[in-house]
Formats: sequence, structure tokens, C-alpha cells
Amino acid sequence: MTQATATKPFVDVLAGHRQTTPPLWMMRQAGRYLPEYREIRAKAGGFLDLCFNPDFAAEVTLQPIRRFNFDAAIIFSDILVIPFALGRSVRFEVGEGPRLDPLDTPDKVATLSPEADMAKLEPVFETLRRVRAQLDPRIALIGFCGAPWTVATYMVAGQGTPDQGPARMLAYRHPEAFQKIIDTVVENSIQYLLRQLKAGADVLQIFDTWAGILPPREFQRWSVEPTKRIVEGVRAQVPDARIIGFPRGAGAQLPHYVEATGVNGVSIDWGAEPAFIRDNVQSKVVVQGNLDPLALIAGGAALDRAVDDVLENYAGGRLIFNLGHGIQPETPVAHVEQMVKRVRAFRG
Ligand code: CP3
Repeated sequence: MTQATATKPFVDVLAGHRQTTPPLWMMRQAGRYLPEYREIRAKAGGFLDLCFNPDFAAEVTLQPIRRFNFDAAIIFSDILVIPFALGRSVRFEVGEGPRLDPLDTPDKVATLSPEADMAKLEPVFETLRRVRAQLDPRIALIGFCGAPWTVATYMVAGQGTPDQGPARMLAYRHPEAFQKIIDTVVENSIQYLLRQLKAGADVLQIFDTWAGILPPREFQRWSVEPTKRIVEGVRAQVPDARIIGFPRGAGAQLPHYVEATGVNGVSIDWGAEPAFIRDNVQSKVVVQGNLDPLALIAGGAALDRAVDDVLENYAGGRLIFNLGHGIQPETPVAHVEQMVKRVRAFRG
């Protein structure tokens, strides 16, 4: 078997084959809970300088793989590189999160450029090529983008907010202006994901962190429809592209999301109801999740029990073991080791 065709458990499960031991990775696995990440982060300067420096970005992408031998590496970048490539101002203030120039009126939306400058994202593609070259052939490489709704919430408000009120209000008051933002992010995300595949990504994930804050009609229009267009746009060029969606908080709407968008897998949060998910979601696609990140901070017997719950609930079907959302900075590395050991010892 050549290196390029070595089997990857992570890709195999997405291709339809349940694994006896579920493949494993963690959302936000490269990050502040790792001392070696904090060291590179301090050297890099700003957060975007880290994302756009292929030496540093490749290094932090590989750090969690070296430590934990996960089944997938996720390229180190951020969902807000798309607004950046669209010419918007994007900054990350230490301890405060992202800051953008708000696009909160139709007049401001009219100034939005339709086309991203893909040259600005070239360092991301270079990072993918470098990571793929260094990565064990059995480990998958994940490329990603934000879903248009979640990216738009930051573009409209100019920052994170507790309830994404500014984007929801713009969508109610000026749906045409909001649709223009969504369409722009859809078209450019398709191009961005296609280039990530070309640079070596094996699988793509679309992060819709704020999907669950929308009522059903708005969820359909701003989360499901745009995600479906991205999936179709990517598959028009790469018909077998494997794509995982993460409509956080979608709850009872998950079966519809899965059917309508055509994703191969769906990341679920820890609020999911196991029997409902098994019968209506895992029967159709791979389920990825869904350990509570706070159980990982807690450690001990509570962590063991939470890991066993995920395995008991979902390992009878196609499962990628993961957290229900990103790992938090205060998580002890020893607790990640404890989780990895327990999942790796499982045979289902
Ligand atoms: O998973 C990985 O390890 C890959 C890297 C990755 C980052 N962001 C790095 C990052 C991924 C996949 C993301 C996705 C992302 N970015 C999402 C969707 C997924 C999710 O977690 O909900 C969202 C909503 C963003 C936007 C974003 N980026 C916010 C709101 C923040 C600030 C909050 C925070 O955690 O600080 C970021 C910054 C960010 N992106 C950090 C990292 C490691 C922390 C910044 C730092 O190290 O200085």
C-alpha cells in the first residue's frame, strides 16, 4: 500500500464503515490549554499573524497530534479569515475576542466587496500542504470554514454578543441586505473550501456555532439553505467531498438539517437526546461528539462516566468521538490524556 492510499479510520467512518474503536479528535484541539501553543502564540504577535504564518500555523496544528495521536488534525486558522479576505478589518483583542467593522445598516452592507482576495489566504493553503507532508498517512487533515450565518453574526455586530441580536435584527428589518452578506460568504466559502481540498484537506467541517439561536423559519433560511449551497457548490467540483456540519444547538431540527444539506456527518452538542439522535440522525449520517467540555475540565470519575456515556450512546453506530464544543483553555492536559486512553481502550 502506498502512503497516499493508507486507510484513515476518520475517513473510513465517513465513507460508511463503523469503527470498532471510534476515531477521535477535539474541537479547538490546538489552543491555549497546551503550554507549547502558548509559547508559539507569544512569539507570533497577533492572532491573525499566527494564522497566516505557515511555520507557526503548521507547528500548532501538529502539536496536539504529537501529544495525543488523534485521528485527525484540523488546520489552524479561524472562521473570520473570510471577512478578512473580503477586505473587512478584523482584529483579535487579547481577552476580548474578535473585533470587526460592523456591517449593521443597508448602506454599510452596500460597501461589501463581492469577492475575497484569495491571495490573502495563500498562507492557509501553504500550511495545509506542509501539514499534509508531515502528517502520518493514517491521520486525516480537516479543512474548515464558518457557516455563513455564524460568520455574518460577527460581521454585522463587529464582535461576539450573547444572543447575536444585531444580526437577527438586520435579518428581520432588512432581509435583502442580510441576504447579500450571506450570499457573499456562501460564494467565497465554496472557493475557499475547494482550495483547501486542493492543498491537502481530506475532510471539511462547516462551523455554525450560532445556528441554535434562530427560530425554525430563520434557521431554514439562514443556516440550512446557505450550508446546502456550500455543500452543493463544493461537490459540483469535487463530487466525493466529505463534509461535516456543526449546527450547534439545532436540537430537534438536526434530522432536517442533515437531510436538507447533504452533509456526511454532523457534530452534536452535549444537550442532544441519545435515542432521538440514534433513530433520526445516526441512522443517516455519522455522528460526531459530544462530551461536555466541562466534564473534561472536571476530570476524575465524572470524566470517566461522561466518556462512557458518549460511547454507550453512540458507539454502536458510526461515531467520531469529540467534544460537544471547543476545549476550554483551563482544561488540564492530564484530563485529555485520561479521555484519550479510555476511548482508545474501547471496543464496540
Ligand atoms: O480547532 C482548532 O484547533 C482549529 C482552530 C480554530 C480556531 N477557531 C482557532 C482559534 C477553529 C476551528 C476556530 C473556529 C471558530 N472561530 C469558531 C467556530 C467554532 C467554535 O468554537 O464555536 C468561531 C465562532 C470562531 C471565532 C472566534 N475565534 C472567536 C469568537 C474567538 C475568541 C474566543 C476565544 O476562544 O478566544 C476566536 C479566537 C480563536 N480562534 C482562538 C483560537 C485558538 C483563541 C485566540 C488566541 O489563542 O489568542
